[in-house]
Amino acid sequence: MTTFKHHIFCCVNQRPKNDPRGCCADRGSERLQAFFKKEVERLGLKGTVRANKSGCLDHCDLGPSVVIYPEGVWYWVGTEADVTEIMERHILRGEIVERLLMPGHEKEKKGSG
Ligand code: FES
Repeated sequence: MTTFKHHIFCCVNQRPKNDPRGCCADRGSERLQAFFKKEVERLGLKGTVRANKSGCLDHCDLGPSVVIYPEGVWYWVGTEADVTEIMERHILRGEIVERLLMPGHEKEKKGSG
């Protein structure tokens, strides 16, 4: 059985176009989740880090929503450059990418690493 050091969950939930909550899929989260997987490979982290699609993470108006465990750090991820920054700083170096922290989760940054 494989035990991952980090587990990255990226919401790819899709709602009907007229749903007032909106959804991460409409903001490009499928593409960003695929890019997380590419970055895991590029950095040689396959088997150590897992980047999974997730259903709704209940932060729909703030998405694309990403949460990384075991730290429990929440991010808003808008671009592939954001993904790369999270991979290189958070996953590789144990740093929190403060500029991408999900609003309302800024206090949870302590204890990561
Ligand atoms: S649709 Fe992504 S958090 Fe709800």
